[in-house]
Amino acid sequence: MKSLADQCAIITGSATGIGLGIAERLGSEGAKIGVIDIDENEGMKAVQVLEKKGVHAALAVADITKESEVRTAVTKLKQQFGKIDILVNNAGISGAAGNLWETTAEEMDRVYNLNLRAVFLMCKEIIPYMLNQNYGRIVNIASIAGKEGNPKMVPYSATKAGVIGLTKSVGKELAETGIRVNCVTPAVVKTKILDQIGPEVVDYMVQKIPMKRTVEISEVASLVNWLASPDCSASTGAVFDISGGRATY
Ligand SMILES: NC(=O)c1ccc[n+]([C@@H]2O[C@H](COP(=O)([O-])OP(=O)(O)OC[C@H]3O[C@@H](n4cnc5c(N)ncnc54)[C@H](O)[C@@H]3O)[C@@H](O)[C@H]2O)c1
Repeated sequence: MKSLADQCAIITGSATGIGLGIAERLGSEGAKIGVIDIDENEGMKAVQVLEKKGVHAALAVADITKESEVRTAVTKLKQQFGKIDILVNNAGISGAAGNLWETTAEEMDRVYNLNLRAVFLMCKEIIPYMLNQNYGRIVNIASIAGKEGNPKMVPYSATKAGVIGLTKSVGKELAETGIRVNCVTPAVVKTKILDQIGPEVVDYMVQKIPMKRTVEISEVASLVNWLASPDCSASTGAVFDISGGRATY
């Protein structure tokens, strides 16, 4: 039997990139996939890709920085699937590259609203469902930037550090329930997010990786797959590194 048979997973930002890779991996293990994304066009394409692989998938278009849109999207997918076992908080933006003193407060807010506040909103909406069934797996996609702090990426690094803190906190809050909450901290993965920051900053990040290579989407998906499964039973509030050796803690 497949490891995620009869389970339902909601993955934010899964129209493209790492999120789509996670959707494909969890789907291949038998999970039904709820794609939540702001991009309707790419979201529809992602559902087609998943369905071609035999995965039961549905799309809810939403800007998850808006609480009302989070609620509507989660309610729609919950009604469609009947339950929610897995939440992967993946949607994120890098923000524009620049020193802190050159960064506008509006840019800081924009990055915060998606990278941290939306993770809070998604958890707030879905945890009550998981508490009702006394089972759930939440995996937050943080970043090596949240541990190390990348120069010229203050909003990104600070909000990803916030995701690590949120994970530790809510993991402890739920430790005596059947819900596990963990996060992963990938180093550079080749996706379109890198277009937002430019080659100079990307080169800096790759040079910092002892393996001297980028991380593959499939490698992140593989780790998330375990964290999203019943096999991940005694880890919660934890930070799982996937940085090619850059952070060995
Ligand atoms: N690519 C990397 O090098 C890297 C490294 C570490 C961590 N991460 C993290 O992995 C996650 C996925 O990144 P990616 O590289 O696949 O990025 P990506 O840009 O390829 O995909 C992000 C997805 O999020 C969606 N999205 C954006 N704003 C949204 C909103 N307001 N509401 C709903 N959906 C929205 C986009 O439409 C897109 O489908 C992010 O949290 C990112 O910070 C990426």
